[in-house]
Amino acid sequence: MISPVIVTEHLTKDHMSHFLRKRFRALDGLTLSVDRSETYGLIGLNGAGKTTTLKLLLGLLKPTSGSVSVLGSPGGAQQTLRKIGFLPESPHFYSYLTGAEFLDFSGKVFGLTKVECKERAADLLKMVSLTEAAKTAIGKYSKGMMQRLGIAQSLINDPEIIFWDEPTSGLDPIGRRDVRMILLKLKEQGKTIFLNSHLLPDVNEVCDRVGVLHRGRLVGTDKISSITGGGSYQDLEAYFLECISSSEVKV
Ligand SMILES: Nc1ncnc2c1ncn2[C@@H]1O[C@H](COP(=O)(O)OP(=O)(O)OP(=O)(O)O)[C@@H](O)[C@H]1O
Ligand SMILES: [Mg+2]
Repeated sequence: MISPVIVTEHLTKDHMSHFLRKRFRALDGLTLSVDRSETYGLIGLNGAGKTTTLKLLLGLLKPTSGSVSVLGSPGGAQQTLRKIGFLPESPHFYSYLTGAEFLDFSGKVFGLTKVECKERAADLLKMVSLTEAAKTAIGKYSKGMMQRLGIAQSLINDPEIIFWDEPTSGLDPIGRRDVRMILLKLKEQGKTIFLNSHLLPDVNEVCDRVGVLHRGRLVGTDKISSITGGGSYQDLEAYFLECISSSEVKV
């Protein structure tokens, strides 16, 4: 039986604006589930609530109401954090460390042995094409190089579930293709992948299923194969635009 490993029920998050102490509903009653080994893409315009969702799944934010379960535990549970990998939207690093030192440090945080850290760091640096920059201080890395290092760091513990927030942002066309290839490889390994993106061609290539988030609400969800294979929509973009415009009409 296929079991969901990520579940949200009526998940709602209000942010409090510092200005005038007004409440703003960033996420409104999100109910979704992601099966083991599924690649799920949460797509939406800027400000739709994608990052807020991811932070709630990871326990970095507390829900205003509703619930989150990842691998059967509430978001942010210690035993779950060991089994997940996270790439934040704009990763920041200690600029004086080299890429290799940073990955070594990340491996130690997860309790890897010295030898494991070294081997895993070398493999991951190769995977993200940073071997030549392994001994360069991160402060000298370009934006794309930092994004690649963030991707490597998110995989240091060989996670069961991968949460990536805009993994292809800031990358050149070759970098974007490389990341799509890495995602396809992780899929082959049976990883569960939760992706936030608004780069629809990337999502189309790697995801099994998408959810369309608009103004904090899930306004559409379907398998990519049903969207683009059934003939109802020309492509994912047409489906995305239709979900958004029909939700605007309903309001
Ligand atoms: N800490 C916060 N305090 C107040 N408002 C916030 C906070 N974080 C996010 N918001 C607001 O919540 C809404 C959703 O933001 P979120 O970052 O989740 O969107 P997003 O879909 O990830 O957008 P993007 O594609 O630009 O990354 C936005 O209107 C944003 O301004
Ligand atoms: Mg975001």
